[in-house]
Amino acid sequence: MGTVTIAVPIADAISLSHLGYSYPGDQSPVLNIPAWRVERNEHVFLQGESGSGKSTLLSLLAGLSVPTQGSLRVLGDDIAKLSTRQRDRFRATNLGVVFQQFNLIPYLSALDNILLAARFGSATTAGARQRATTLLERMNLQSALHHRPASQMSIGQQQRVAIVRALINTPSLLLVDEPTSALDHVNRDAFLTLLFDVLSDQECAMVFVSHDPALGASFDTQVKISELNHVGATV
Ligand SMILES: Nc1ncnc2c1ncn2[C@@H]1O[C@H](COP(=O)(O)OP(=O)(O)O)[C@@H](O)[C@H]1O
Ligand SMILES: [Mg+2]
Repeated sequence: MGTVTIAVPIADAISLSHLGYSYPGDQSPVLNIPAWRVERNEHVFLQGESGSGKSTLLSLLAGLSVPTQGSLRVLGDDIAKLSTRQRDRFRATNLGVVFQQFNLIPYLSALDNILLAARFGSATTAGARQRATTLLERMNLQSALHHRPASQMSIGQQQRVAIVRALINTPSLLLVDEPTSALDHVNRDAFLTLLFDVLSDQECAMVFVSHDPALGASFDTQVKISELNHVGATV
């Protein structure tokens, strides 16, 4: 009684218009995307051939580079208006990024790789350790592995550690670049099952990039980068 509910509009996870990107010194753009939106909590599978601009697009979404044309909003923030430092801060706080090569620190254990990422986010140390342990177990990495150096883990184990590291600061958007290309079919399917399971109780959108169209079925949305990116298209 007497309470007033005000609907606060929540920004899309991603919204871009007339996005262009050229690598420094290059004449022709690699990306020319007229429009694209990803909603909060939407899980998108982005498929494209090698060289079609998937990784370039992910580095823009991660704020690792900025568009040379057009506008890009990630979680409502205009990426190009942030300084490099602000973008680093924004990424650490709001995004989870899994690169193709995982970029784990080889001599640190699984747990320490994750806790290092937690220090750059906003988690408290005790909370982060508990969350890391829980997430590692949910990704089917048992406690005996938590203290093993990353360099002594299989590729499949490393990519699951990289997912946990990306999720440690409870991001609102997870960006994943071709994480399954080194896995056989059985491990690839198991990895996707674990990933969706771990995301099921998080408020987190995802853009998952792969050249392999066979992986797309479990996602809310499947997009071909050739449908988004008009570079090279004949008018
Ligand atoms: N650092 C770079 N400098 C110049 N060109 C690049 C660079 N990285 C990628 N490219 C070019 O941009 C295009 C898209 O590459 P990329 O985004 O890596 O594609 P994908 O991830 O789909 O394989 C390719 O033609 C590639 O050669
Ligand atoms: Mg790539």
